[in-house]
Amino acid sequence: MIESSDLRMTRIPLNHGAGHMPALGFGTLIPDLAVTITATRDALEAGFRHFDCAERYRNEREVGRALQAGLAAGGITREDIFVTTKLWNSNHRPERVEPAFEASLDRLGMKYLDLYLIHTPFAFQPGDEQDPRDKDGNVLYDRGVTLLDTWKAMESLVDHGKCRAIGLSDITLDDLKPIYEAARIKPAVIEVESHPYLPEMELLDFCKQNSIVFLAFAPLGHGIKPGPLEDPVISAIAARVGKTPAQVMLAWAVQRGTALLTTPRTAARARENFDISALPQDALDEINRIQTRQRLNPVVKTGVGGFLAKGTGA
Ligand SMILES: NC(=O)c1ccc[n+]([C@@H]2O[C@H](COP(=O)([O-])OP(=O)(O)OC[C@H]3O[C@@H](n4cnc5c(N)ncnc54)[C@H](OP(=O)(O)O)[C@@H]3O)[C@@H](O)[C@H]2O)c1
Repeated sequence: MIESSDLRMTRIPLNHGAGHMPALGFGTLIPDLAVTITATRDALEAGFRHFDCAERYRNEREVGRALQAGLAAGGITREDIFVTTKLWNSNHRPERVEPAFEASLDRLGMKYLDLYLIHTPFAFQPGDEQDPRDKDGNVLYDRGVTLLDTWKAMESLVDHGKCRAIGLSDITLDDLKPIYEAARIKPAVIEVESHPYLPEMELLDFCKQNSIVFLAFAPLGHGIKPGPLEDPVISAIAARVGKTPAQVMLAWAVQRGTALLTTPRTAARARENFDISALPQDALDEINRIQTRQRLNPVVKTGVGGFLAKGTGA
């Protein structure tokens, strides 16, 4: 059962009794380190309690510092927040998984993680180079490890108690099914691009049937224009209900049963993106009838991140 008397407080249960994920999440894919710190602090102050990090973002240390300071200043405990980070593609070899996890934990300054995700299903050449390429610029993939090998190492992290739940990111339904079937510890969460132009209904249905949390990244279409934020259906609903287009899109995401990650960079936008309220059914139906389809981030096909119009990495 999703807990949601107030949409802003919606918390979605994780399988295996691993607690609840606050549906409204703050994403830390912010290249500027100073902005990472202020935006993380502003998000915490605005009410966000779910923080999505990644080794790949190269800012776990700054997110960790902002969170420690914010928790202390706000009288908030570690148990009150939900923190995720992700294993990067160059650490898929089973023997590299625990050291990568421990390094992330150390950078974040935390004793445990609520969720650890395999960032993409694509294994790159193992090593410290996050973006290994041959002399012609082609990505060097690692054919010597399967996603299931990596998943088994992720399961060991849960066994050892430093990580409450595990999951996958940038995964398609075709790749998720075999892992789900073979897993001893089933994926608790998948994190994928989703917004009104990419509703991923088949994947969402599979997740609902199997108690996997569907966590949507780019719920505002990454702010790319033209994009769903400027869709006339969204603008008309926003005007009708007295909310902003961003608030309409975030409410739609939560009301259809997904968690989401948004990246407001200023205090005003953090407050705006947290201040959502339920849309009437006719508004939800109108958004569900939008026919435009657009994938903005090709990472799901290659393991190489980057929003097409902004190039900010996965
Ligand atoms: N697993 C993966 O491979 C993967 C890939 C991508 C992202 N993610 C995660 O998902 C998070 C969210 O993704 P995202 O940054 O694309 O989310 P998003 O919220 O769809 O897009 C964020 C952009 O939208 C604009 N924006 C934010 N609030 C707004 C508002 N109220 N009104 C108008 N525009 C607004 C901002 O653009 P400006 O500030 O530039 O104006 C911001 O940079 C990331 O931080 C990361 O944690 C994961």
